[in-house]
Amino acid sequence: MSLILTVLNKLAKFLCKKTESSLPKITMLQRCILRTYHVLALVLCVSAREDFDWTKNEKTSFYYSTFPTDGKGMSIWDAFTRKKGKIFLNDTGDTSCDGYNKFKDDITLMKDMKLNHYRFSISWPRILPSGLKSEHINEKGIKYYEDLINMLLDNKITPIVILYHWDLPQEKYGGWQNVSMVNYFNDFANLCFERFGHKVKYWITFNNPWSIAVEGYETGEHAPGMKLKGTGAYKAAHHIIKAHAKVWHTYDMQWRSKQKGMVGISLTADWGEPVDITNQRDIEAAERYIQFYLGWFATPIFNGDYPQVMKDYIGRKSGQQGLGASRLPVFSPQEKSYIKGTCDFLGLGHFTTRYITPKNYPSGLGDSYFADRDLAELVDPKWPDPGSEWLYSVPWGFRRMLNFVKTQYGNPWYT
Ligand SMILES: *[C@@H]1O[C@H](CO)[C@@H](O)[C@H](O)[C@H]1NC(C)=O
Ligand SMILES: *[C@@H]1O[C@H](CO)[C@@H](O)[C@H](O)[C@H]1NC(C)=O
Repeated sequence: MSLILTVLNKLAKFLCKKTESSLPKITMLQRCILRTYHVLALVLCVSAREDFDWTKNEKTSFYYSTFPTDGKGMSIWDAFTRKKGKIFLNDTGDTSCDGYNKFKDDITLMKDMKLNHYRFSISWPRILPSGLKSEHINEKGIKYYEDLINMLLDNKITPIVILYHWDLPQEKYGGWQNVSMVNYFNDFANLCFERFGHKVKYWITFNNPWSIAVEGYETGEHAPGMKLKGTGAYKAAHHIIKAHAKVWHTYDMQWRSKQKGMVGISLTADWGEPVDITNQRDIEAAERYIQFYLGWFATPIFNGDYPQVMKDYIGRKSGQQGLGASRLPVFSPQEKSYIKGTCDFLGLGHFTTRYITPKNYPSGLGDSYFADRDLAELVDPKWPDPGSEWLYSVPWGFRRMLNFVKTQYGNPWYT
């Protein structure tokens, strides 16, 4: 299944590759979606220039149904894309690929392509508009996902459902900086198990938590755009890992025996290859690159705690900065055993490879996730470049990554 996910990711990226060049950092799929929206917007502009026809202004007309009242709440991405200068051409995701209205057409296309799995996410604010289960459940949103899931099953396409693909309800509480999110997210996940779990058997708690933490709370390139260098990403990741574990336990205790499904997580992992495979310092730097990327999330979930090399590096640098404690939060012994083993399968998203060599960042300078790793990333200009400044096609790196995961985390593909 993990391979299926990866192939789907790659397919989506391949389909989108023609639409992106040197754009702001937003994922390619989003770029593709936003570009689609742009085309739709142009069509709307053209038709708006024609004379208005009063005889056609009835409730069933195109104008009436353009903006359905679906009861959805705002997400952090709705808010972020509305800020000028954040997104290419200042586009928003208001319509994008319009899966809400076109899911029947989409499933027909999937059938034509002979797909047997479909991975999609349930939008938290579409189900819980304020984010809180205690406040309001949007039954229209539930109905939409029920219809989608039923039609997939009718067509023998297995749904794989992500509970968090980045659209946090527009936050009042500091988003993933706030440990309260753990319980709010668990309430949302529990509601999804209750309403959809008799039909959905594959659940992914988080998709690419690395991006959520680093780009959402460290660099600010993604929603919610916080720039909390050196602390924001670690804190967000800490709460995301706790939330993942809590949701897994909720499923395990309340639903597994009835519903007999699986709960996993989908991590992103690019490969880091030592520049000189005979140089011990290069080998250690490459190991750091991977541990700060994949190991940050996978090691707590499979082995119970952060990778030792992260604890060492961030702890030492925090000390040099005169901080009383490490910027990397600490799991208590109870939390470690609670988190360890909370994964029925591992999803892997893989994009590209880098050559890695050590690079010393003096403490105080930088003070960020990137500086903490003490390494430099290089690429081979001969690697095929599918048209983006950061993406290079390196198939052997993908193979090495799969072997690494197999040996480090105990062959988690079919557990
Ligand atoms: C996006 O908005 C910013 C700020 O208002 C403006 O400077 C920029 O020209 C806009 N870009 C486009 C493509 O409209
Ligand atoms: C965290 O969330 C709670 C609500 O659960 C809120 O009362 C509190 O103020 C939030 N903390 C911060 C720092 O925003």
